[in-house]
Amino acid sequence: MKILIIGGGGREYAIALALKRDKNVKNLYFAPGNGATDKLGVNIDIKDYEELAGFAKKEGIDLTIVGPEAPLVEGITDVFKRHNLVIFGVSKDAAKLEGSKAFMKDFLSRHNIPTAKYIQTSSIEKAEDFIDTLTAPIVVKADGLCAGKGVIIAKSKEEAKEAASAMLSGESFGSAGKNIVIEEFLDGYELSIFAICDGENYKILPAAQDHKRLLDNDEGPNTGGMGAYAPTPLVNDDIYAQVEEFVIKPTLKGMKEEGAQYSGVLFIGAMIVNKKVYVLEYNVRFGDPECEVIMPLLETPASELFYKAATGRLNELDLKFKDEFAVGVVVASENYPYKSSEPKIINIYDKESVYSHVAYAGVCKKENAIYANGGRVLVCVGTGKSIKEARDNAYDLTKKISFEGAKFRNDIAYQALK
Ligand code: AMP
Ligand code: GLY
Repeated sequence: MKILIIGGGGREYAIALALKRDKNVKNLYFAPGNGATDKLGVNIDIKDYEELAGFAKKEGIDLTIVGPEAPLVEGITDVFKRHNLVIFGVSKDAAKLEGSKAFMKDFLSRHNIPTAKYIQTSSIEKAEDFIDTLTAPIVVKADGLCAGKGVIIAKSKEEAKEAASAMLSGESFGSAGKNIVIEEFLDGYELSIFAICDGENYKILPAAQDHKRLLDNDEGPNTGGMGAYAPTPLVNDDIYAQVEEFVIKPTLKGMKEEGAQYSGVLFIGAMIVNKKVYVLEYNVRFGDPECEVIMPLLETPASELFYKAATGRLNELDLKFKDEFAVGVVVASENYPYKSSEPKIINIYDKESVYSHVAYAGVCKKENAIYANGGRVLVCVGTGKSIKEARDNAYDLTKKISFEGAKFRNDIAYQALK
């Protein structure tokens, strides 16, 4: 098979590594890819979706896999489907589940899917009235896409009102904040649960946990995610059963009824409060860095999973995972997540092992050397028969690779190892 991967982060790199292990896969292409994906395939510099579809046709691409949310929200899947190309990723209509938090919350409420009590509004008076009915902390969210930054957990009603006002005036998140969601704070633990969906059928992947805060002990600002591990022992059969019955099934049914059949990744950002599952948010793509720890566990050939999902045949698939754990430690550049950092050369002191590998994300290539290019640069992934073994392998790898200003958390997977 010839496969085109849309995106260029660690998530797409991890999908590519899984496809590389698959003997059905002959060639990989990335649009745009990054400074390391060119070792796994060919980087393509085409941005326009019509042109990309033209490339896929000409090149005889059998399957396109979309990594990030932006192309999905912009409708890449619809363009490829109009050209009769096989593509894994949700349609533009279905991507609204991530593209608009207000749409997502209203959808959950219409279909009785458990979530935090909320209102969505563009009126400051309504926002303030609702804030007055809640007790702090109070969560204020910008409606649109803000690269994971549009959520404020306010410690007081005053702070919540200020955040709401700054969003609605366009001051904090521009047009993404013109409409906001205000909701009650749920006090529990978070899980990242992924279902691969084909419109009718679904397969649940081993649940993961992300680490969103920059610093150890979950301190510091929110980031895109500083590390992840899977499977987490913080799930059990009852939680998976709740997720299937009260979340995935009504979501697939509801999206179909609303004319936006759901085929792609359903990423359930779940909060578990007193053993009960609540949906914090939906994303329409894999999590990053969660994908980097789930893909190495896949035993079923990756091309089969994505191809069957993209062609509505998931019911034919017996999805298998290895009896192992994976831990991923994100290594970020000096100024992350505040501002960009100067490119720095990446030094690799030793080879990766059977039990550890790097998933490259924010990297570029200059004169054949790989440079850290700001943001989250790479993920050191370790695997093992236990979470501890996997974590030790991941942290061993962080010692073999470095660049100036590199930083990472030292406590990834702590909730599982307490
Ligand atoms: P979101 O982008 O909606 O997932 O929010 C980002 C992060 O904010 C989540 O991963 C949670 O850690 C936190 N968060 C969002 N909504 C709530 C809530 N209702 N209660 C508690 N924490 C929340
Ligand atoms: N790691 C969380 C996300 O990808 O949104």
